[in-house]
Amino acid sequence: MPIPHLVEVKDRKLLEEIVYFSDRYGLEELERLSKRDFVNIYLLLCEETPLGYAVVWRSGDEAELHYLEVFEDFRQRGIGKELLKQLLGELKKRGVKKLLLEVSEKNIPARGLYEKFGFRQVGIRKNYYPDGSDAILMEREL
Ligand SMILES: CC(C)(COP(=O)(O)OP(=O)(O)OC[C@H]1O[C@@H](n2cnc3c(N)ncnc32)[C@H](O)[C@@H]1OP(=O)(O)O)[C@@H](O)C(=O)NCCC(=O)NCCS
Repeated sequence: MPIPHLVEVKDRKLLEEIVYFSDRYGLEELERLSKRDFVNIYLLLCEETPLGYAVVWRSGDEAELHYLEVFEDFRQRGIGKELLKQLLGELKKRGVKKLLLEVSEKNIPARGLYEKFGFRQVGIRKNYYPDGSDAILMEREL
């Protein structure tokens, strides 16, 4: 497989692709987010094929990973690692010094991915999600 590359998404066509492959956002919501200047939406493409995406909110020299997903057909093949690696590189270039995120205690794949990249737990929100699970707050310097 050729090396995937990260692009910043602004145009509707790529937003539609994300909404087609992911259940997380509706098109209207994603479009609204894409127009905010503190929000960046990145898509990992292999040639023309979308593999996964990330939504990041920036505030000064910190940023929050609002969501990250590898589309279902491409999981467990190292794409999550590639997406996060390229995302961290891109944010660093933009002057971000710290990336924060929250993840459900039950989300073992995502926790494994973040731990692999050196994110450390800095807090916990009890019964945060509708299913009663805790949110784990994590961060990493860039
Ligand atoms: C979390 C997610 C992005 C991982 O993407 P992926 O492409 O499957 O991840 P990779 O193949 O690059 O694996 C990276 C690491 O994640 C962990 N991991 C991935 N899938 C896993 C699974 N099914 N079980 C346990 N650990 C897993 C492992 O630590 C893995 O490292 P390793 O392969 O060296 O053991 C993907 O599962 C996903 O999109 N999930 C749905 C959306 C989501 O929950 N996003 C996180 C929101 S906070």
